Amino acid sequence: MTSDGPVCISVINMKGGVGKTTVAALLGRHASLAGLKVLAIDLDPQANLSQAFMGDQYKQFLADKKPSIVELFNGFRPPTPTTRLPTSIDVEDVMVSNTSLGGRNLKLIPSRFDFSDQLIDAVRPDQRVLANVIADSSEDWDIVLIDCAPTESILTRVAYQASRYVLVPVRPEYFATIGFPLLKDSLDDFKGRNRGHTIEVAGIVINNSSYHYSGNRGGPERRRSTIEIKREGQKNEWHIFEQEIPFSRGFPKIMRGDFSHPGDAVFFPDFAREFFEHIGLDS
Ligand SMILES: Nc1ncnc2c1ncn2[C@@H]1O[C@H](COP(=O)(O)OP(=O)(O)O)[C@@H](O)[C@H]1O
Ligand SMILES: [Mg+2]
Repeated sequence: MTSDGPVCISVINMKGGVGKTTVAALLGRHASLAGLKVLAIDLDPQANLSQAFMGDQYKQFLADKKPSIVELFNGFRPPTPTTRLPTSIDVEDVMVSNTSLGGRNLKLIPSRFDFSDQLIDAVRPDQRVLANVIADSSEDWDIVLIDCAPTESILTRVAYQASRYVLVPVRPEYFATIGFPLLKDSLDDFKGRNRGHTIEVAGIVINNSSYHYSGNRGGPERRRSTIEIKREGQKNEWHIFEQEIPFSRGFPKIMRGDFSHPGDAVFFPDFAREFFEHIGLDS
């Protein structure tokens, strides 16, 4: 198998709590452990991806007022306890390496809770900032993963501007596909305004699946919603990954840095391998 070269993927669903951050973090970890050079970008002001990768370090990061994606967009670092002038920002300064969850080959651009307020306050936030940052450092990465907020905003366009693919995690539950038409409209609108840009949905991954490796196939509601997901996905010609990510209490634990009882979370690599192969990346 050969690799088609570096690639940027945004993990998006206009619905919260479906596993976007979990999938982004664990794909990043999987790729990093497989020796790929990974850039993970937290575009969600909730900063869950940053907390997952940095663990307890994240509190210190906030306390030290270290630069984050906020400063990357502002283009400068404001005065801090140690610098008394605004100073210029170097992209390298914003990247956190050696995160506990991410391993040696992963760097993270962390987010901060005031990110959306800062963008609203900016006169015209530049939705191309991130794409430019990635373009300038493109030789440093095999894969760039962007974790997105569930609401459509300028941040969604920021993610699109940088991305070749969109990955959509869904949970098989009532109203599972409520975000699909929003995502389709938002992508179509983006494509209409950016005719030179190739971007497509790489696929839908069913997360929190009841299809337990341990045998539990879930109740009728889960089966109904899985059928609905497949139908709505096909309507948009969105691929659906064969490997589902099982429900496992191991996932929240791993996201807190506790690998002691991963349970069915050990099956995540089955999906990761299928995903990487699908987008033409060796892992
Ligand atoms: N497959 C899974 N099994 C069990 N819990 C999961 C699974 N995927 C996600 N979770 C948990 O569900 C919650 C929401 O997941 P998260 O990745 O933060 O979603 P999102 O980023 O879409 O809001 C988190 O507490 C996470 O640990
Ligand atoms: Mg999230």
